[in-house]
Amino acid sequence: MLKDLIDNNRAWSRGKTQVDPEFFRRLEKQQSPEYLWIGCSDSRVPANEIVGLDPGELFVHRNVANLAPPQDANYLSVLQFAVEVLKIKHIMVVGHYGCGGVAAAVDGQRRGLVDHWLHPIREVYAEHRDELEALAEGKPRHDRLVELNVIRQVKNVASDVFVQDAWARGQELAVHAWVYSLADGLVTDQGVTIAGVEDFRRVWPRG
Ligand code: CO
Repeated sequence: MLKDLIDNNRAWSRGKTQVDPEFFRRLEKQQSPEYLWIGCSDSRVPANEIVGLDPGELFVHRNVANLAPPQDANYLSVLQFAVEVLKIKHIMVVGHYGCGGVAAAVDGQRRGLVDHWLHPIREVYAEHRDELEALAEGKPRHDRLVELNVIRQVKNVASDVFVQDAWARGQELAVHAWVYSLADGLVTDQGVTIAGVEDFRRVWPRG
């Protein structure tokens, strides 16, 4: 089976250079992506493929349930490099319906370390308990929690000092909330785009 993967790799590399002989030589020298994707690790949500971007065009950070926790050194390192060195212009936090991480956060079962990782989602649930529990249990409630989680992570990203400092410097940078549907392969923008401190104050007037 692994041999198949290596064969696939050879065919992919050949295909790329047939279309564009300089493709890899150019990428070897530098990357200049305009986008940072913060998405779920789920194998059904392949970042580049969903938005039709080639190697070199999308900077990617993925973890369970697409979180942007303000104390996570991994995420923060990616964010700082993307904003300050690559000077990417758009950050999209991308959740997906049917997210096992989001479901696991609120199903009451104990799994160990991941319960701690998923803690921020339980906080999102608690913050929006009335709205969520007015929805039918199961898919409607889960789908809304997925959307609310993405919006909460956008708030984390947009309130981070790396992003706030970029805006203070006049750097062009927007943070977007997207949700991907496994059922039809379509991304939906949740209508919460934060492109500066004015947007932030409008969406979250109390900070
Ligand atoms: Co997921």
